[in-house]
Amino acid sequence: KIIILDFGSQVTQLIARRVRELQVYCEIHPYNHIPEIDESVKGIILSGSPCSVREEDSPRINLAAFGDLPILGICYGAQLLAYLGGGSVEASQHREYGRAHLKSVRNSILFQDVSANSQVWMSHGDTIMELPAEYEVIGSTESVRVAAFANPSKPVFGIQFHPEVTHSTEGKQILKNFVVGVCGCSASWTSDSFVETTVADLKKKIGNDKVVLGLSGGVDSSVAAVLLHKAIGQNLYCIFVDNGLLRKGEFEEVLESYKSMGLNVKGVDSKKRFYDALAGLSDPESKRKAIGKTFIDVFDHEAHLIEGVKWLGQGTIYPDVIESVSVKGPSATIKSHHNVGGLPDFMKLKVVEPLNTLFKDEVRLVGKTLGIDQKILGRHPFPGPGLAIRILGDITAEKVDILQKVDAIFINGLKSEGLYDQVWQAGAILLPVQSVGVMGDERTYEKVVALRAVTSLDGMTADWCHLPYDFLGKISNEIINKVKGVNRVVYDISSKPPATIEWE
Ligand code: XMP
Repeated sequence: KIIILDFGSQVTQLIARRVRELQVYCEIHPYNHIPEIDESVKGIILSGSPCSVREEDSPRINLAAFGDLPILGICYGAQLLAYLGGGSVEASQHREYGRAHLKSVRNSILFQDVSANSQVWMSHGDTIMELPAEYEVIGSTESVRVAAFANPSKPVFGIQFHPEVTHSTEGKQILKNFVVGVCGCSASWTSDSFVETTVADLKKKIGNDKVVLGLSGGVDSSVAAVLLHKAIGQNLYCIFVDNGLLRKGEFEEVLESYKSMGLNVKGVDSKKRFYDALAGLSDPESKRKAIGKTFIDVFDHEAHLIEGVKWLGQGTIYPDVIESVSVKGPSATIKSHHNVGGLPDFMKLKVVEPLNTLFKDEVRLVGKTLGIDQKILGRHPFPGPGLAIRILGDITAEKVDILQKVDAIFINGLKSEGLYDQVWQAGAILLPVQSVGVMGDERTYEKVVALRAVTSLDGMTADWCHLPYDFLGKISNEIINKVKGVNRVVYDISSKPPATIEWE
């Protein structure tokens, strides 16, 4: 495997993505928590950073810890290599951002099969002025002399540009040259091999113990459950809670498909408890907290009914883990939606998280390998607090009923028009606004709903979906005609940032 040391760059995860795309297993670790370097480690990549090596307290590491292992420093990582070796790094005359082209590239294994004049992406405020004697320049751009360097007698390389971003058009080839060519890793990470080794590991780790796992209907918990089920069979106890805030008919439908996959699953109808806990609350964070607490109470009660259960299974995926251990601590939380560490102290269970090394698209691949229905794998993300954060203001069973009907018309419409898979996430929001309308001879004063559909890669940024007007018109008509209490439909055309995907 490859170890990526994170110095706090925003794009460190992308380095891991690119390496995984080469089917090579890698892990990100904060620079100040370096894991044990055993023989499975074939190489080290040093990430970029918002810091400058010229600052006293900028992050440093001891290179001797890596012995003779190959090292690739990217941006700050490259500057750190130069700086630690006694070279000089200075503030650039002009800060360098954006596109540049590699000129005068030396014959180096790092640039094998990379075309002359290749476009690379720069983003740095410091520049390496003098290299330590042990290194030589292997590539320059129009304005940066030391754009790439290497140690001719050791497998140590530094590059000033960012090969991990797609704007570096041959960045992936450069990473491949390092990971495969220099480090000797083989392209062997596939979802089949992942399933095989993970199932064997889980069998060994868990033995004959019992595991309890909360299913949400989402991709992650479903794949985690099927993987655990493959390893330990009926010793996996799944609990699927109906919090009364799911989509229309979803509880019954999903429960049925879990059962048909052979999972040992118990559906728990707790609608009333959730509605009671939410009564009168309209502040979004209070609603989230009430839902979280009620879920833990229900889950804890159910877990205690399973005699001798030892483990808690969770569908935590890699981005959740990285976020909770990152250099600067979790990135500023805008909303309290973290699935890591949500375990109450009083549940003294050991935690098993079979997906905690995978990215979302890898989870889907593993799900496919496990034969999970595309209906579950292809689902849009759905927030844990469900429709509660799409009903602005306080929650009542009646409002949930209205929103479920509206949402179902919208989502079914997307599916029947073949638009569902082009959308990353979609849903409807019930606004705390009434507007005037006319139906027949009478004036009405009824509710407004907003429709939201976005495109995105990871939910961090998003754009509103340019759904066809005809489609929106048809859906609006259907909603107003069929859902009593709604007389106006609007479409949300805000991008994230500055808006968010949800309205609360
Ligand atoms: P925002 O609204 O922050 O949403 O742009 C980004 C993604 O996160 C989901 N989301 C949540 N998920 N609990 C969750 O489990 C929450 O409280 C929560 N709030 C937002 C949202 O649906 C979108 O996919």
